[in-house]
Amino acid sequence: MSKNNFKFEDEIDFKDVLKNPIRWFGFVYPYFLIIAIAIGMIWVYKMDILFNNKIPPAIIDSTRLFKDIEPKKGFSIAGVDVVKLYSEKEQLKTKGEEIFKANCSSCHGEKGLGDGVAGANLNPKPRNFTLSTGWKNGRKFSEMYKTLVEGIPGGAMVSYDYLPIEDKFALIFFINTLATDFPQVSETELKELDVAYNLSQTRTLPNQIPVQTAIMKLSIEKTSDIAKINKIIEFLNYHSNPAKDIFLNVTYNSVKALQTLNANQGWKTEKENFVKLISSSVNENGFNSKALMLTEERLNLLYDYMNYLFKLQYD
Ligand code: HEC
Repeated sequence: MSKNNFKFEDEIDFKDVLKNPIRWFGFVYPYFLIIAIAIGMIWVYKMDILFNNKIPPAIIDSTRLFKDIEPKKGFSIAGVDVVKLYSEKEQLKTKGEEIFKANCSSCHGEKGLGDGVAGANLNPKPRNFTLSTGWKNGRKFSEMYKTLVEGIPGGAMVSYDYLPIEDKFALIFFINTLATDFPQVSETELKELDVAYNLSQTRTLPNQIPVQTAIMKLSIEKTSDIAKINKIIEFLNYHSNPAKDIFLNVTYNSVKALQTLNANQGWKTEKENFVKLISSSVNENGFNSKALMLTEERLNLLYDYMNYLFKLQYD
């Protein structure tokens, strides 16, 4: 037997490892390394996203949010009888005081001295209602009404037009109690106020729809307009009629001419409007200069034919 007899030993002495579990770490270690390298690779791979900030930010940039107006049903503000309303002065004063406290005293002060906390740093300062000087619109009933409707431009006194007419009256009745020297109100002044602001007429505020909906509605209308004009053109192609020849003769672009007619509906009832329409901006509206030289007879033919074309149901 050679002395060099080399004895192969197990690289891992499992029995020994079992006895000494801490040695497991030695075998697990390479895997940690692999995991670490993998994480590193993922990081490098995603670096582009990380550095270009493609990850959505946690806080949404609210300036980029598009907020549309709410759909709202129109409503009407009932008209009032100004003289009758004026006669309810005594009862309305108390109501006016409440509205004043809620909406005005922050600037004008509880007693209307112009000393409300919110008005302290304003320039111009809120009006002191007990002084007769420095008024811009004035202290008369109708002048204060104007202030409430229109506000005073260039300062903190904004319009309070959204308040019902009765509330505006009530406010002024209350302000009138704050000093003894407010000008008397005459019936003429009230009547003039009525005329100036249409107070006896019911005001109707129209329905309101979101802009997006409006755009959609418009584009649907537009598409149906195009479809309609196409149908008319198609009809023209397949039907001959002396009036059709007149039409083709006085137009340089029949589609454009039909669009002009379609966009302005007033011509259908008044021949005069029709003449105005086809002869205004000739060479832009699809009609040519021959449209200006039509005899009465040919004009009538054309007018009736156009009315006929636009009244036809094409589907
Ligand atoms: C944010 C503060 C503020 C509030 C709230 C406010 N006002 Fe004023 N108001 C002013 C200021 C400031 C002026 C003076 C404007 C000027 O001189 O240009 C003024 C002026 C006036 C005047 C005098 C207009 C004139 O002819 O010079 C009247 C009347 C008036 N306010 C009534 C009211 C009533 C009624 C309310 C509540 C519905 C109200 N204000 C709420 C700030 C306010």
